[in-house]
Amino acid sequence: MITYKTEISEFDWENLVDLYDETNMCIGLGQKRETEKIRRAFQNSYRFVTAWDSGKIIGCARMISDGECYGWIHDMAVLPAYRKQDIGRTIVEKLLEGNEGLLIGLTSSFEAVDFYTKLGFKKHKTAMAKYPGRSDYLFD
Ligand SMILES: CC(C)(COP(=O)(O)OP(=O)(O)OC[C@H]1O[C@@H](n2cnc3c(N)ncnc32)[C@H](O)[C@@H]1OP(=O)(O)O)[C@@H](O)C(=O)NCCC(=O)NCCS
Repeated sequence: MITYKTEISEFDWENLVDLYDETNMCIGLGQKRETEKIRRAFQNSYRFVTAWDSGKIIGCARMISDGECYGWIHDMAVLPAYRKQDIGRTIVEKLLEGNEGLLIGLTSSFEAVDFYTKLGFKKHKTAMAKYPGRSDYLFD
């Protein structure tokens, strides 16, 4: 059975890094195994939701927010073997629970656009972003 948590113990950060390593997400910090940076980033987030199969984290995402006006979703990942089982949808729903009045933004990966569309997100006409380096996601 898949279970969901909004807190994880001190011992589970490596488990979370494994998820981002295996999915090459979290801006590559997982593959560099920057556990402390990931821990700080998640602990400084408004909320994060992990999905578990027994003792293994098989999905996660987090939301950065002021809790009043805006929220931003990042680092959505589900292990390949667990995809298309509504785990990603459940994680996003749990992130948004009680935050229905917030304006929620995100930048999708190329492959997740249809996923977010199914969850009710729409493309933004004027969204802009600034990255620390170059990115295939930005127009020149
Ligand atoms: C995108 C991702 C999180 C989806 O997780 P998931 O658990 O498979 O998604 P769900 O099973 O909850 O899917 C919800 C709906 O979206 C659809 N969906 C999921 N992934 C999809 C995809 N890649 N293309 C089209 N539809 C997709 C599902 O079929 C389902 O549709 P339904 O309501 O008609 O049944 C997962 O594929 C993933 O981790 N991808 C790699 C990392 C990534 O790109 N993350 C997004 C970063 S912004």
